[in-house]
Amino acid sequence: MAAMSASGRRVFLLGALLLVAVSCHGGFGGVGVAEGLSTRYYAKTCPAVESVVRSVMARAVAADRRMGASVLRLFFHDCFVNGCDGSVLLDDAPPGFTGEKGAGANAGSARGFEVVDAAKARVEAACRATVSCADVLALAARDAVALLGGTTWPVRLGRKDARTASQAAANGNLPGPVSSLTSLLATFAAKGLSARDMTALSGAHTVGRARCATFRGRVNGGDANVNATFAAQLRRLCPAGTGGDGNLAPLDAETPDVFDNGYFRELTKQRGLLHSDQELFAAGGGGRSSSQDALVRKYAGNGAKFARDFAKAMVKMGNLAPAAGTPVEVRLNCRKPN
Ligand code: HEM
Ligand SMILES: *[C@@H]1O[C@H](CO)[C@@H](O)[C@H](O)[C@H]1NC(C)=O
Repeated sequence: MAAMSASGRRVFLLGALLLVAVSCHGGFGGVGVAEGLSTRYYAKTCPAVESVVRSVMARAVAADRRMGASVLRLFFHDCFVNGCDGSVLLDDAPPGFTGEKGAGANAGSARGFEVVDAAKARVEAACRATVSCADVLALAARDAVALLGGTTWPVRLGRKDARTASQAAANGNLPGPVSSLTSLLATFAAKGLSARDMTALSGAHTVGRARCATFRGRVNGGDANVNATFAAQLRRLCPAGTGGDGNLAPLDAETPDVFDNGYFRELTKQRGLLHSDQELFAAGGGGRSSSQDALVRKYAGNGAKFARDFAKAMVKMGNLAPAAGTPVEVRLNCRKPN
């Protein structure tokens, strides 16, 4: 330091400033990485929170296994739009406020809001105005995976709820079902998530359902990389042209309601339901390979490896925080700011 020239000092200072800027605001498209999250965040203020959320999720999944998938997806749709801040849960409040529920990926599709409400109500009854909706959703998503037979992980807590939401950001940040591998990689990289994280997280499609509208082209001749038997079966549910837009098919036909590695085995047989799913294996078809082929094969043959990588990537995704300066609070009702 003492021997540093004036210009060297300037460079050093600039570097230090940049480091501070990056660690405060995150380097990823205005989304930061949360600094203060901790697994023991509510240990003193709301020790019952984990058991309360778990019991609400257990009842919901017992009544409708798809609900586990739907809640897991809500967490993804929360975290990818200005960080995990509960913004996806806000209702539209016309004329002044437009939330994210009407965005392309959510409209007529996102479900599970009532279950989050029920969990939040029980948490409020146990510890008022303490636990954010964003944290309730993070716990609910973790519990959903375990209740469907999947892995589990300690959830870091201490998120706050945004008082704002952005339909435009939801439209811009949530990937669509006809995305190419290149586009998927870019969308996840913009959140600081690697190709391995992206492929592991896509394994969430081992549970849940998709509407015909999202895979019509794929099963009606629009996709070279599809299993012909599989496509023929799905055409009965989802014929070319129009009609049946809302008909549902499982994202993992092997074990539709079990959180396992069946999704990856299906990909190796060209039986991914969405074009975006099949892009992870032999992208483009006709013998062309994808950079993710080896990883897909590994996960298809090694469920424990998938479980470890999925848990790690969920923690990483759960660390995405709103941009600095976003007004936040602990919402009392997940559907509206206080
Ligand atoms: C890789 C990019 C992704 C794309 C393009 C994508 C796209 C989609 C689409 C189009 C659907 C069907 C929606 C409908 O028809 O109503 C869906 C469902 C689902 N997605 Fe994704 N998704 C992606 C990543 C993820 C991630 C990272 C997760 C969670 C970690 C996730 C969890 C789910 C679940 C569980 C369902 C089923 C929901 C239900 O049955 O209600 N997805 N996704
Ligand atoms: C297509 O799927 C069937 C099962 O439906 C499977 O037996 C077959 O091997 C698959 N074809 C390819 C090319 O993977």
